[in-house]
Amino acid sequence: MTQYSEKVMDHFMNPRNVGEIENADGEGTVGNPSCGDIMKMYIKVEKDVIVEARFKTFGCGAAIATSSMATEMIKGRTIDEAMELTNEAVTEALGGLPKVKRHCSVLAEQALQSALDDYFKKKGLPSPIILKPEEEVHDH
Ligand code: FES
Repeated sequence: MTQYSEKVMDHFMNPRNVGEIENADGEGTVGNPSCGDIMKMYIKVEKDVIVEARFKTFGCGAAIATSSMATEMIKGRTIDEAMELTNEAVTEALGGLPKVKRHCSVLAEQALQSALDDYFKKKGLPSPIILKPEEEVHDH
């Protein structure tokens, strides 16, 4: 019996959107200081819409599943919509995570925020993103 939902297992075993995007419009790398896992996220943007999102995660199964789901959820969304995506929404879409693994979903949210921040900077625009330190991101 696994403590993970079927969706988590599915995204862990068959992660979507793994890889890099060359000349990405935004990319961000974040690390989880408590476990040392690292995640990198890339976005390609056309007319304010995210047309492609990819990630690379050097981390645990929950981090892989949440980054896979997060990239699926932002594809086709506008930058404004993507900015609203929270780790809670990603976790919910996965059918939940065991409490001890919820901090892993924070990594996906932070990687996305960091990629969006980079997107604004690359465009020479002031970034509205406030990168939150891990302890300020809700993990419950
Ligand atoms: Fe490090 Fe999950 S244990 S992100």
